[in-house]
Amino acid sequence: MKINKIYSLLSLVLVGIFSTSCTETEIRTETITEILDPALVTEGKETFRHDTFGDEDFWSGILHLDKAIKGSSNGGYGSGVSPATALSVGLKVDSEALPADVAQAIQAGQVDLNSPATTLTLLKLNAVVGLKGNFDTSGNMTSVGITCALCHSTVDNSFAAGIGKRLDGWPNRDLNVGVIVSLTDNAAFLANLLHVDEPTVMTVLQGWGPGKFNAGLFMDGKALKPDGTIAANLIPAAYGMQGVNLATYTGWGDMTYWNAFVANLEMHGKGNFSDSRLNNAVQFPIASENNFGNVTNSPDLITPKLPGLQAYQLSLLAPVPPSGSYDAAAAAAGKIVFQGVGQCATCHISPIFTDAGFNLHSASELGIDNFEASRSPTGMYRTTPLRGLFARSTGGYYHDGRFTTLGDVVNHYDNHFNLQLNSQQKNDLIEYLKSI
Ligand code: HEC
Ligand code: HEC
Repeated sequence: MKINKIYSLLSLVLVGIFSTSCTETEIRTETITEILDPALVTEGKETFRHDTFGDEDFWSGILHLDKAIKGSSNGGYGSGVSPATALSVGLKVDSEALPADVAQAIQAGQVDLNSPATTLTLLKLNAVVGLKGNFDTSGNMTSVGITCALCHSTVDNSFAAGIGKRLDGWPNRDLNVGVIVSLTDNAAFLANLLHVDEPTVMTVLQGWGPGKFNAGLFMDGKALKPDGTIAANLIPAAYGMQGVNLATYTGWGDMTYWNAFVANLEMHGKGNFSDSRLNNAVQFPIASENNFGNVTNSPDLITPKLPGLQAYQLSLLAPVPPSGSYDAAAAAAGKIVFQGVGQCATCHISPIFTDAGFNLHSASELGIDNFEASRSPTGMYRTTPLRGLFARSTGGYYHDGRFTTLGDVVNHYDNHFNLQLNSQQKNDLIEYLKSI
């Protein structure tokens, strides 16, 4: 009898320990997906991966990137984009879209990865992540467009470097958007839009670097930071957005606001978009001149897709760090620092790891310059949701990647908030950040 009691007490305690250690995982893997409409999520996944919203008119009609990819040997211009070149600028190939014979041929080294014609074959198979080619009945590529997945998906490299299964929501920190755009033979269009000369456009595009993009450029024309270096922000994660109020580094709006913004104004899809804040000619001279705050298109190829896109993004849970990628004991100690003397949890609140409610802070509160904040209608910085940091450890931290390592981030907070953390606490904090 006594022994039985002890056993049941023991199992109660064990269940208690088990369930507390599982709480965060459960939130990650179950609750969210249960409340979403599976049909809407599936539709949104298709949109996220494959929908160009009619943006071919921009990427091909105006920038002629279809012809840059083809190269002169296939009816385009220049040397064309071979798979080797495409991979070198960070484009990814979806191995699951490759038919078995093609996959075998690649593995056997029988496919010419230096020929633009091979890229056209991959596009025909819809295997280049985020880049969609359209083909006529005789098999000629007539245009290309881009999808959300171009920047917000990568692959797991399970087939080869840059070739593997899709990882949606993971930012592609290898992707050199600027270099890809600079393949255009119509830089004049961008130069006119921004009121600069063509060489300036090229210098700026080539200066963004891998994993970065300047989304504000086409609103305010600001290509450079006050110190003269080229301004660009890291492509953020599109996972782990559950419970997060404002989106983007500077909190332009919520996630679905930004989805409409980016589909219309950055990808140049054809939809409807309104935001009277963009009519402010002082803050947004390029946007107000081009009426970007009042976009209408008929038919509207974007708005009907917003509910699905939102559902799909909400289904993208932050990936769980592989075990062994951090020191679990140190991480447990780091959690205590994060929630205690480190004061991190005053803004990064578990499980969302941003502020609950109005999640913006001033530059001075953060101890950084206000250049990027001042480009947003909010004038502030949004507390980054920290889950899945391990999956975006390339390119640095903070909006522009100014901190190379997590150690640099921790040192910044230690100095700015005068936390006086010792090296053990700092190390533990870093291990915790790697674990969430
Ligand atoms: C050319 C690359 C590119 C494409 C294509 C793109 N994005 Fe983004 N996205 C970015 C960058 C860069 C930011 C950060 C903007 C900023 O804050 O300056 C961003 C921000 C976001 C955010 C905010 C994330 C956060 O941390 O709050 C979401 C959500 C998002 N994008 C969704 C989408 C969706 C949906 C699409 C397709 C409709 C899309 N993006 C297409 C580059 C891209
Ligand atoms: C006053 C609110 C606030 C506090 C306190 C705070 N953070 Fe942050 N955190 C932010 C904001 C805002 C950003 C976005 C800064 C940017 O992108 O420029 C951020 C960004 C980060 C990032 C970079 C994420 C990424 O993907 O780029 C990390 C890591 C981070 N914080 C960790 C911490 C840690 C660790 C602490 C405690 C030592 C802490 N934060 C305390 C508001 C805060």
